[in-house]
Amino acid sequence: RMMGQHVRSKDQETRLANTLKISHCIIVPGNSDDDIRILEDMGHAAIKALDFLLPEGKNVVAVMGGTTMVEVAHAMDEKFGENRQLLFVPARGGLGESVDIQANVIAETMARKSGGKSRALYAPEHVRSDTYSLLSEEPEIKETLQLVENASLVLYSIGSAFEMAERRGMDEETLRLLKEKNAVAEAFGEFVNPNGEIVYKLSRIGLQSSQMGRIPHVVAVAGGKRKAKAIEAYVKTVPPHTWLVTDEAAANEILNGG
Ligand code: BG6
Repeated sequence: RMMGQHVRSKDQETRLANTLKISHCIIVPGNSDDDIRILEDMGHAAIKALDFLLPEGKNVVAVMGGTTMVEVAHAMDEKFGENRQLLFVPARGGLGESVDIQANVIAETMARKSGGKSRALYAPEHVRSDTYSLLSEEPEIKETLQLVENASLVLYSIGSAFEMAERRGMDEETLRLLKEKNAVAEAFGEFVNPNGEIVYKLSRIGLQSSQMGRIPHVVAVAGGKRKAKAIEAYVKTVPPHTWLVTDEAAANEILNGG
């Protein structure tokens, strides 16, 4: 029976990867919307994926923030760092999140738990273009941004557009604009519509989704029935070598058309 279940879930993972046109999916049983343990399982599955993908030796890992990433950071362990010299960097500057779920903190936690190092990226999210040019020339920021661009792996989650807009305290006018443009998903500060077209962007400091194609390994971690539409939409913008770690609830919703 266990064997049958395993085969069935492998089959579902392949179907999901084909539907989303990405190279690999990992599905953990359950729905992370109403059970925190499922989020923890996704965290452990993500670390397993990283362990499979990353070679030994020196590796720069670029990470994003959010509550999902917090769980991935919790699942990180010394064993993962054993034969690797790891450097964790935030993929982007602040996105207006509360401190405990910011990418800087996730990078720091992952470094501590794996015995690696981390670097912070302190850059405000709303800057005018002249300030942006100056900031990106600041030696410390420039160096971190170069590390991000040359990362071996980028790790991030995907959120539902309005949930993320509200969490980030975006103003009424922007919320209206997002509604008008039918934004359904957000990741990297980029809001996309159901066709995967970017309709609004926050913060320009750090990695943009358009640069992900050049990063050797890309792992997205997002689950819960609530996020199915967001995952489906955002994945249309990602490079085909992306791996997705998700849960059964999101997978069923995507495969069975909700
Ligand atoms: C982050 C992404 O990793 O996860 C965000 O960079 C995304 O842009 C967020 O919206 C999702 O957050 P959460 O709390 O649902 O994991």
